[in-house]
Amino acid sequence: MSSTEIASNIDTPDGKAEGLALLRRMWSRRSTAPRHLVPPGPTDDEIRMLVRAASRAPDHMRLKPFRFLVIAPDARDPLADVFEAAERELDPGIMGERLERAREKALHAPTLLAVISRVQDNDDVPEIEQRASAGAALGYVVLAADLLGYGAMAVSGRKVATQAMRRAFELAGNEELLCFIGIGTRAKAKGAPPEPDSDLLCTWPPV
Ligand SMILES: Cc1cc2nc3c(=O)[nH]c(=O)nc-3n(C[C@H](O)[C@H](O)[C@H](O)COP(=O)(O)O)c2cc1C
Repeated sequence: MSSTEIASNIDTPDGKAEGLALLRRMWSRRSTAPRHLVPPGPTDDEIRMLVRAASRAPDHMRLKPFRFLVIAPDARDPLADVFEAAERELDPGIMGERLERAREKALHAPTLLAVISRVQDNDDVPEIEQRASAGAALGYVVLAADLLGYGAMAVSGRKVATQAMRRAFELAGNEELLCFIGIGTRAKAKGAPPEPDSDLLCTWPPV
């Protein structure tokens, strides 16, 4: 659907019904751990759709305080080397099964996106707003993946903040690796989502 078609449909009764259907889909989103994600993953076109969804995250002054890297399909072994280097940096004595598990994480999920937060120097948009924007963007990606019928999950771990990761992803001084998003076909159906916490919304002033 083109942007013009989306815009012309939005205020019609049909548009509202579609919106409600979309909301129901949003309410049912669940994460699926990368080890439970199997091929096929999203196509290149679908990956672009996910990133297009991310591009609609609220972004004060349009600073684009995030970007994504898609891990090339034939780069999983090199990524496992990076994961190993990151774990060795965190624990120089690491070996055996723990090291194997660390490497395996690079091989899970048919598609892996690295989410990079980049805080721009801007007097009007503080760091917290820019980080919030990157968080919203990753939320839109996992939601959009769910809407396309894929499972997805944001995963990080202490390794994302290591120098090994920074070097591998050639991060600039203002950039941080926020997490990876694993995307693929769910090996089993997702469960029902939890009910939202009752304290998620209160009234101010308190009654
Ligand atoms: C930036 C970020 C990093 C995350 N890293 C991990 C992780 O390393 N391990 C994990 O179990 N969950 C991690 N999570 C949480 C999961 O992605 C997921 O949201 C959580 O398991 C709740 O499941 P749900 O999304 O189905 O409610 C992370 C979430 C975010 C936003």
